[in-house]
Amino acid sequence: MTLWPPLGVRVSSGDTELVYADDRLLLQVAALAADGVHDEDTMPFPVSWTRGSPQQVARSVLTFQWGNRAAMSPEHWRLELAVLHAGTPVGMQGAVARDFTVARQAETGSWLGRAHQGQGIGRAMRLLVLHLLFDGLGAQSATTSAFDDNPASNAVTRALGYRPDGHELVAREGRPARVLRYRLDRADWLDRPPALRPPVEMAGIEALRTFLGLPHGPD
Ligand SMILES: CC(C)(COP(=O)(O)OP(=O)(O)OC[C@H]1O[C@@H](n2cnc3c(N)ncnc32)[C@H](O)[C@@H]1OP(=O)(O)O)[C@@H](O)C(=O)NCCC(=O)NCCS
Repeated sequence: MTLWPPLGVRVSSGDTELVYADDRLLLQVAALAADGVHDEDTMPFPVSWTRGSPQQVARSVLTFQWGNRAAMSPEHWRLELAVLHAGTPVGMQGAVARDFTVARQAETGSWLGRAHQGQGIGRAMRLLVLHLLFDGLGAQSATTSAFDDNPASNAVTRALGYRPDGHELVAREGRPARVLRYRLDRADWLDRPPALRPPVEMAGIEALRTFLGLPHGPD
């Protein structure tokens, strides 16, 4: 853990927990993705990593995550946390940032295995990663985006108080698609209603801050 501080990161509230995805967890999460993340006729991701055989999907989870680890630096990091619900791995919640020590902004992205969707876990895990970013790492803003035909992701984002931040057109599997962008600024985070303030426990934050080039102490 001293050598690789992200391994010690843990953020939890009630029965939902974010923990750094070590290889043991990564294999479990890859198997979950292989069982399916969405209907065949939709594509919630800009990169179609969920297409292909179960083995291809599982391997693409592994190679993507291994690549992220190898590329981690204070200038550009992608922190990928496994989501546990009542101790069972159910998906991934990530945050990616460039020059975070200066810009203090990160973008989040996530997925759950199909069997675990629609039960409020998506909202709980986003709240946890926002805690990590704002309260743990001193973010000034958190951004996120979703295709306009992804009601669940857009509903989670809106429920957490993000403000709309424009849209863009991108190519998705060879066709134009509209991505809705959102931003949650620190002032709105600090002002969030009591319903969005469950007790949250965080571990491994100081070591992570050092690893990411952030100063110690209050932000
Ligand atoms: C997006 C995702 C992480 C959300 O997690 P989840 O656990 O399913 O979401 P929750 O149960 O916390 O909340 C879903 C919200 O969407 C709403 N919703 C879901 N389907 C909907 C639909 N067809 N129309 C309108 N609202 C819908 C639910 O009512 C709920 O809103 P509420 O809390 O106000 O009731 C999850 O569905 C998922 O992994 N989807 C596939 C991958 C994906 O889309 N990743 C995100 C890419 S941007």
